Amino acid sequence: MRVIVTGGSGFIGSALCRHLVRERGASVLNIDALTYAAAPGTLADIEARPEYRFAKGDIRDAAAMMRLVADFKPTAICNVAAESHVDRSISGPKAFLETNITGVFAMLEAARSYWDGLSEPARSAFRFVQVSTDEVFGTAAAGTRFTEETPYDPSSPYSASKAAGDHLVRAWGRTYGLPVVLTNCSNNYGPYQFPEKFIPLALLSALHAGEIPVYGDGQNVRDWLFVDDHARGIADAMAKGVPGESYLFGGNAERRNIEVAHAICDALDAVHRPNEPRRNLIRHVTDRPGHDRRYAVDFSKAERELGWTPSVSFEDGLARTIAWYSENAWWWQPLQTRYDGRRIGLLKTS
Ligand SMILES: NC(=O)c1ccc[n+]([C@@H]2O[C@H](COP(=O)([O-])OP(=O)(O)OC[C@H]3O[C@@H](n4cnc5c(N)ncnc54)[C@H](O)[C@@H]3O)[C@@H](O)[C@H]2O)c1
Repeated sequence: MRVIVTGGSGFIGSALCRHLVRERGASVLNIDALTYAAAPGTLADIEARPEYRFAKGDIRDAAAMMRLVADFKPTAICNVAAESHVDRSISGPKAFLETNITGVFAMLEAARSYWDGLSEPARSAFRFVQVSTDEVFGTAAAGTRFTEETPYDPSSPYSASKAAGDHLVRAWGRTYGLPVVLTNCSNNYGPYQFPEKFIPLALLSALHAGEIPVYGDGQNVRDWLFVDDHARGIADAMAKGVPGESYLFGGNAERRNIEVAHAICDALDAVHRPNEPRRNLIRHVTDRPGHDRRYAVDFSKAERELGWTPSVSFEDGLARTIAWYSENAWWWQPLQTRYDGRRIGLLKTS
């Protein structure tokens, strides 16, 4: 198995590279542009292994992608690279359109040109896996959950750009016959997540007695999946997914944002209780424009057809995440020069 992972230096891509190298015996080429979201040292634990290779490259660079794909001769490409932070997409949508749409187009064309030259059985066995998000579905009404049949209805520039990329992937499957598989996953958390995202942001603030920002009334609901479970799901979709199909992954862990903030505070208080409970650090701040109220995922198709199921409970995963950030300041401290916790993604009128 020879797998190209784009965006392998980011949060989910790095978990996928580790999983493929350690658990699946794959040779992996990580292609990453090393944007602000890629932290040095994220792949320190596998980068000396002979099965792992890195190429600095931008997925928007069509000629470079053609070359890298042709040289590596992959059995699969997992497109994980993306601009991924909703607040940044509100402040500056252009980079999202460029990477999440034009970048997907360039990867699809590189894959198609390589795949066109393959003969059987390699041609039928090849897979292009597009890693997407449940945010493309917009908000889930109370009592409902997204399924693979739910129409796309994105609310943010981020989710709209991901939706557009997914449409291209499906079209390349239908028009050119490229064997594409899509995955849509709920919110991830775990080690190596850039500290602008909600769980590491809240957790690092709580560790250092800083304010913990919670958007709006804190009642927005997200479903949470531990990142290693997602990595395993992507690998399962690559190995067992049917071309043209999509698979949803979720954690069976719907939580209101305020509940997540409370859980982080209480877990830290249980280890070291300061004079005041850490819940007092929580501040309700102006809501995110276009903020979806609820995401909820029905992942029974992945259970049925891929044999995938989440293995880490939210409580266990959160405890592991807290322990990891507490012990790995070497990783996140340098990132604070790139991201100082300042609020972005507000409209001038907010
Ligand atoms: N984080 C989540 O909760 C979540 C949930 C579901 C789906 N997803 C999807 O998973 C994917 C990865 O998310 P993440 O949280 O790991 O993101 P991330 O921001 O942590 O990592 C993105 C990686 O892509 C790289 N990258 C960005 N633009 C690039 C370009 N033009 N060329 C090459 N590399 C580029 C960055 O350097 C970085 O290493 C995204 O497609 C996202 O939509 C994320």
